[in-house]
Amino acid sequence: MPVITCIDDLKRLHKRRTPKMFYDYCESGSWTEQTFRENCSDFQDIRLRQRVAVDMEGRSLKTEMIGQEVAMPVALAPVGLTGMQRADGEIKAARAAEAAGVPFTLSTMSVCSIEDVAEHTTKPFWFQLYTMKDQDFLRRLIQRAKDAKCSALVITLDLQILGQRHKDLKNGLSTPPKLSPAVIADLATKWGWGIEMLRTKRRQFGNIVGHVADIEDTSSLGEWTAQQFDQKLDWAKVATIKEMWGGPVILKGILDPEDARMALKVGADAIVVSNHGGRQQDGAISSMRALEPIMQAVGGDIEVHLDSGIRSGQDVLKAIALGAKGTYIGRAYVHGLGAQGEQGVATALELIRNELDIAMAFTGKRNVTEVDRSCVLVPEGFSGVWA
Ligand code: GLV
Repeated sequence: MPVITCIDDLKRLHKRRTPKMFYDYCESGSWTEQTFRENCSDFQDIRLRQRVAVDMEGRSLKTEMIGQEVAMPVALAPVGLTGMQRADGEIKAARAAEAAGVPFTLSTMSVCSIEDVAEHTTKPFWFQLYTMKDQDFLRRLIQRAKDAKCSALVITLDLQILGQRHKDLKNGLSTPPKLSPAVIADLATKWGWGIEMLRTKRRQFGNIVGHVADIEDTSSLGEWTAQQFDQKLDWAKVATIKEMWGGPVILKGILDPEDARMALKVGADAIVVSNHGGRQQDGAISSMRALEPIMQAVGGDIEVHLDSGIRSGQDVLKAIALGAKGTYIGRAYVHGLGAQGEQGVATALELIRNELDIAMAFTGKRNVTEVDRSCVLVPEGFSGVWA
């Protein structure tokens, strides 16, 4: 067994063991991938303070996200097609999250369905909603999440249309994969993946297939998005969905203080500062640069979370220090899943927990709820003076 010491180790194994089209789907941003890259490199620009001779015994990473207890301020982000990275991927990830005491968010575009994940877990998970044109389907989807006892609705606001990811087009991304000669040649080297996939029944978009009529091809994320996602989504519709749901709502995809104010107005329980992992607006600023101006605009009035670019516990610490109450990892856990299934997700979470714990101790803090801006050194003008 290889010795795994960081998320990058899992990423290498993920690449080796997973069909190219799914690894590439995970590991890409839109167009030039500028925002995708800067999400990570901007974390590097922030430095952690080091304090010494401070009692570091009895540390705790426990905190709350939307009033729910979490073992550390890290949730699993909604990721489409997770069940193509590894057979039954969403169930495996949800189970690892549950064991680690952190929230799991199921994507609308998951392979395992809401009901399936609920059946294989014991704690409520969060459901991420894409807003569809088909109001009847939308209503039923929300009802299904309610019936499955999901404990929050995460409404994605930055994907009514899809940012172009070149690799997905070149690879002919589809769920399940269409067997072209190139795909067959690739699968021949990923036989472990294939054997597990043959053993499961879960190989399509489980929340969609069998739940909508008159759709010719549900295998392509691009096609489905173009046909079904509601481009008319606006704040009034967000308010209506919130009403329909009736429980905690997290609005994901906020990158601008003006939108953060709108989210506050609509009565969301939390917002996620996010650029969708650099997969949508290429050229947008990184989530970390966006965080402080948003904190200044609404930080005292609404819970603020952050995703996009987190690959380590040190990154989590930096986001918390700048005001986020919680963070999300997407690629970091998918690398674990692709590398080693459920155990790999558990390893990814354990790596991040350990990095967060030790980095926090070096800043002289013993409790994650005490982490604040004094733990970091932020370059002047980090959030920019943008004209
Ligand atoms: C969907 O959420 C995607 O980013 O592909």
